[in-house]
Amino acid sequence: MTETILVTGGAGYIGSHAVLALKKAGYNVVILDNLSYGHPELVKEVLQVELIVGNTGDRPLLDKLFSTHNISAVMHFAAFIAVGESVKEPAKYYQNNVTGTLTLLEAMIAANVKKFVFSSTCAIYGMPQEIPMTEKHPKNPLSPYAASKYMIEQILADFEVAYDLKSVAFRYFNASGANPEALLGEDHNPETHLIPLALLTALKKRECLYIFGTDYPTEDGTAIRDYIHVNDLADAHILGLKYLLNGGESNIFNLGNGNGFSVKEVIETARKITGREIKVIETERREGDAPILIGSSEKARQILNWQPQYADIETIIAHAWQWHQQRHN
Ligand SMILES: NC(=O)c1ccc[n+]([C@@H]2O[C@H](COP(=O)([O-])OP(=O)(O)OC[C@H]3O[C@@H](n4cnc5c(N)ncnc54)[C@H](O)[C@@H]3O)[C@@H](O)[C@H]2O)c1
Repeated sequence: MTETILVTGGAGYIGSHAVLALKKAGYNVVILDNLSYGHPELVKEVLQVELIVGNTGDRPLLDKLFSTHNISAVMHFAAFIAVGESVKEPAKYYQNNVTGTLTLLEAMIAANVKKFVFSSTCAIYGMPQEIPMTEKHPKNPLSPYAASKYMIEQILADFEVAYDLKSVAFRYFNASGANPEALLGEDHNPETHLIPLALLTALKKRECLYIFGTDYPTEDGTAIRDYIHVNDLADAHILGLKYLLNGGESNIFNLGNGNGFSVKEVIETARKITGREIKVIETERREGDAPILIGSSEKARQILNWQPQYADIETIIAHAWQWHQQRHN
């Protein structure tokens, strides 16, 4: 029997890549997305799966969804994701991310659906005390966004004790790149991520790109981050899902590529790949930005046998560039 997976936030950036990977792996998929940031045209044209437009916090809708679809597991991408906005509007983040997830989990338990794959974030670690960061690194979320994700991890642990809910939480580092055939890609509005901002500047959709801080203790003075290709993230989700469906215990995994690239290295690579000018303005550091964030994903490699395919920054940016050209021209 083909199993059906509910993907919340499947009309968004990472969720849509996971839906494509699920389809390729032979699963049926139903998407729940309220389209606050999702792209329904990509669901219709590329993913071609059922899209239920609605909210993770809508219990009657969830009860109906679970009673009319034979759902084996839930992949939960739906969330608000802007760190800066979460500092200014914390209630919006706790309401959508925490309360919405709690309602979803309660509906799952009521429907006896007990496998859950969750999008967490490396932001729950706060300032790094060691590099690379493992899953054991102390947790010190520095924003309501990060705190909302850490709260959900704690809720998942409590739901396991109370209801035997089995979950895999993936703590992503910087999701980046795009589907290699440019069918899907990153299109956040507002965009806050470095690679799409650089490419939008190359496309003249933005005038310039800001570098926040050039006096970090790194070789070129700019901050170093771990960029993980979105297809590699999607593959990890399939492995995490199979692990749970095969009776695996609840677990938490970092997903990063283990290599760090500085802001200047990313911009230089984007200039090389696009062959275009990318105007930058160097400005002050932002509060709360760490000099270096690099993750260890050894645990996911060992336990899930995860093998990322696209670890080099050139491929990541080349795939993102193909997508951006197609999307914006
Ligand atoms: N992009 C990254 O680098 C990154 C890093 C770490 C973690 N994450 C996590 O990965 C997940 C996906 O991120 P993304 O970059 O694809 O974001 P995205 O904004 O592209 O996708 C999120 C999707 O969820 C939908 N959504 C939001 N709230 C909803 C709700 N209450 N009910 C139904 N749908 C809702 C939005 O419409 C959107 O389609 C998020 O949970 C995010 O916190 C992302």
